[in-house]
Amino acid sequence: MAKKKILITWPLPDAAMARARETYEVVAHSGKPQITIDEMLEKAKSVDALLLTLNEKCRKDVIDRMPEHIKCISTYSIGFDHIDLEACKARGIKVGNAPHGVTLATAEIAVLLMLGAARRAGEGERMLRSRQWPGWQPLQLVGRRLDGKKLGIYGFGKIGQALAKFARAFDMDVHYYDIYRQPADKEKALGVTYHPSLDSLLSVSEFFSINAPSTPENRFFFNKDAIAKMPQGAIVINTARGDLVNDADLIAALKSGRLASAGLDVFFGEPKINEGYYDLDNTFLLPHLGSAAIEARNQMGFEALDNVDAFFAGKDMPFKLA
Ligand code: DGY
Repeated sequence: MAKKKILITWPLPDAAMARARETYEVVAHSGKPQITIDEMLEKAKSVDALLLTLNEKCRKDVIDRMPEHIKCISTYSIGFDHIDLEACKARGIKVGNAPHGVTLATAEIAVLLMLGAARRAGEGERMLRSRQWPGWQPLQLVGRRLDGKKLGIYGFGKIGQALAKFARAFDMDVHYYDIYRQPADKEKALGVTYHPSLDSLLSVSEFFSINAPSTPENRFFFNKDAIAKMPQGAIVINTARGDLVNDADLIAALKSGRLASAGLDVFFGEPKINEGYYDLDNTFLLPHLGSAAIEARNQMGFEALDNVDAFFAGKDMPFKLA
């Protein structure tokens, strides 16, 4: 039987590409330059399914232009805010994501951001690289430790829970808020305290980590009102999505000292981030590296392919979104 044809919009790690090629005739875009939406829709005419990334914004107008025969889209990401699921449902397009591979890698980056922001690692690196280090000094780049500090985790899915475990190893006092409360035995095993509202969580968070998916309900929730509820000099980190944060309000709070620092891996409008962040010493910034570990990126590929395999086998996608 002839192999089904799939479009993969970016080169993936070798193991994922090899597995894709075993099963499918792969139309692989080089990523150089990034595939445009028009090119993706053009290539979609001659393939049976799409495996795409968070860079390919599939809003309703794009889904509406999808060739009629495309009924399977799998995204190489846990996030799916780049795909209009309602539009996909209306067109009978099955959609799946890659939800598990990212977990530990993203939680690790959250720890890196906490440490980077609290221990002023970015400032130190910039000082050293610009050959401006005058040598060790008692008051040079003095930050603060993590132990004993209250960490508030907003969004307690797999990544939030993995972060809680890591943070407990640093002796942090871990609190969380999520619309789904974990069972009491799990909270006990993790050593975490539940808050019934985001406001309550904000009010105790000396460190505040954003780990919730971006939805129309919480978009830009981290604004001046949220910041006003936090302890003076708190530290905020974001490994989820940039559009959860009101950049102007965060930048103002970092400038005034209301917040001590921020560790950010994701940004609204990536890769053109708010210029204000570049000028602040108290930001520790990474270019969306959350899942950038080979173990994670391989598994993301396998999960995305599991969806496509299930679709062609006439089964439900294992990581079904629509
Ligand atoms: C995701 O998977 O949604 C991350 O943001 C990138 O890996």
